[in-house]
Amino acid sequence: MFKDFTFSIIKPNAVRTGRIGPVLSMINEAGFEIAAMKMVRLTRFQAEEFYAVHRERSFYPGLIEFMTSGPVVVMVLKHDNAVEQYRKLMGPTDPTKAPKGTIRAEFGVNTQMNAVHGSDSVENAHKEANFFFSSFEVY
Ligand code: RTP
Ligand code: MG
Repeated sequence: MFKDFTFSIIKPNAVRTGRIGPVLSMINEAGFEIAAMKMVRLTRFQAEEFYAVHRERSFYPGLIEFMTSGPVVVMVLKHDNAVEQYRKLMGPTDPTKAPKGTIRAEFGVNTQMNAVHGSDSVENAHKEANFFFSSFEVY
């Protein structure tokens, strides 16, 4: 039976500062299986589409600038109860509130540059994975 999956992005601040390896280590050590992965530079259109749910929020323009500021790593991660388990591994949006041992506590800089994205529901995990990967790129 296929395990549940979630979709994740290693954000530009973490890629820029050489944290791809350390973030992947934490993901592996927590028992996630990497089912798909690639490095991409988001276009403005892709970033706006991806974060469309936040369109009306005051942080949206800054978020789009940030997410298009450099390459990111997009991934599909398999684990039992993957969405919830991965959000636990990331920690909360604000890295200063993130418990020790979470990815955002380790590599987040502030509420915007918080190192990683993780889907917030199973439905969004499917949408987000399909946004970046075709079915034959996911193992
Ligand atoms: P994500 O979607 O990236 O996994 O993060 P999240 O669920 O914890 O946070 P969400 O509310 O969905 O916000 C999406 C991303 O927008 C940026 N943000 N900036 N400056 C701010 O107040 C603010 N609030 C949110 C962050 O990059 C956040 O991860
Ligand atoms: Mg979110």
